[in-house]
Amino acid sequence: MKLNAGISRQISLSMALVVLGVILLVQVSSYALYAWMLRTAPESFNDPYDLWPSKEELYWLVATTIISVAIAVIAAGKLSRRILAPLNSVAESLRQIAQGNLAARALPYHQAMGEAAQLVSDFNLMAERLQHMERERVFWNAAIAHELRTPVTILRGRLQGITEGVFVPDQAQFESLLAHVEGLGRLIEDLRMVALADSGHLGLLRVEASLASEALTVLHLAEPMLRSAGFQLQLQLGPEQVMCDPMRIRQALLALLENVRKHATPGVVRISSSVSDGVCRLCVEDQGPGIDAALAQHVFDAFQRGDPSRSGTGGSGLGLAVVKAIAIAHGGQASCRPSTLGGALFEIRFPQQ
Ligand SMILES: Nc1ncnc2c1ncn2[C@@H]1O[C@H](COP(=O)(O)OP(=O)(O)OP(=O)(O)O)[C@@H](O)[C@H]1O
Ligand SMILES: [Mg+2]
Repeated sequence: MKLNAGISRQISLSMALVVLGVILLVQVSSYALYAWMLRTAPESFNDPYDLWPSKEELYWLVATTIISVAIAVIAAGKLSRRILAPLNSVAESLRQIAQGNLAARALPYHQAMGEAAQLVSDFNLMAERLQHMERERVFWNAAIAHELRTPVTILRGRLQGITEGVFVPDQAQFESLLAHVEGLGRLIEDLRMVALADSGHLGLLRVEASLASEALTVLHLAEPMLRSAGFQLQLQLGPEQVMCDPMRIRQALLALLENVRKHATPGVVRISSSVSDGVCRLCVEDQGPGIDAALAQHVFDAFQRGDPSRSGTGGSGLGLAVVKAIAIAHGGQASCRPSTLGGALFEIRFPQQ
């Protein structure tokens, strides 16, 4: 890659070259002039007190002045083009971005110098990020509207039916309404968690706790639903004490177990926790069908769901985003990889202290 010199160095170099060129021009041409005059008009040197330039010397003075000015103008033009072309391109793209065209990019000028070339690439990077954020914003708005519309439509239909006497307002009807309201509540809470985590405001109440006993508390609640769905639990829980927010850890584990129930094929579910080299790990593995490669890359992003024909429907795609938010709030990470059991392995890891 060609290294562009800094602008100040380039200006100094250009000025030095112009001055050198002009001095050389004056020196060489004066030697040539006087050599020529000595041969062709030696009488011009007869009077040493005549300080008025001769006709030839006047021509030479005018010619060297014009050539020197031309050299300076050409050099300044070239130099300013190399500085201004990228700046103009950035200014034009800025205007377009201000008018809402986030796809505008500054054109890289092949002769652009150090800082100007850097400015173009930094500007383009910023524009790229801006466009990405705008795409994300549009996607989020559409996804939230979509997720809220279904339960709200159902609730409105049911309530309208009850008001008009189409549905009987019995216990079963109210239980179903309550289930939809709870679903809405969970959706709003998940959205809140992901938004808080994105802005770095997901607060934790860290205390010393045992991952094993937190996992057992969750399993006590989740085991009946997993068993009735055909899953057998396999536990490998280490006894270590770690610093964590137990409520959030339980929430993350519950989301992972809920995913197993919804998306995995019935079989063995392994839940393991361990601490090694100061890193705590909490893993949930199943026997299949696993996560396909295309989804695996962004499975922890909000609203990312697998093929509904493969993994069942009903989720809003926020469960794993919440798991990731919890792991990150603990200073760690959440990841997914194929399990030795044949399905997916979801891991939350974070520092022990
Ligand atoms: N154990 C698993 N086995 C296979 N696929 C899984 C598993 N866990 C998650 N997935 C896939 O990852 C996707 C994203 O999971 P996530 O928990 O974020 O959303 P969801 O379960 O669809 O909805 P929500 O959790 O908001 O109710 C799922 O739609 C599913 O396709
Ligand atoms: Mg889920």
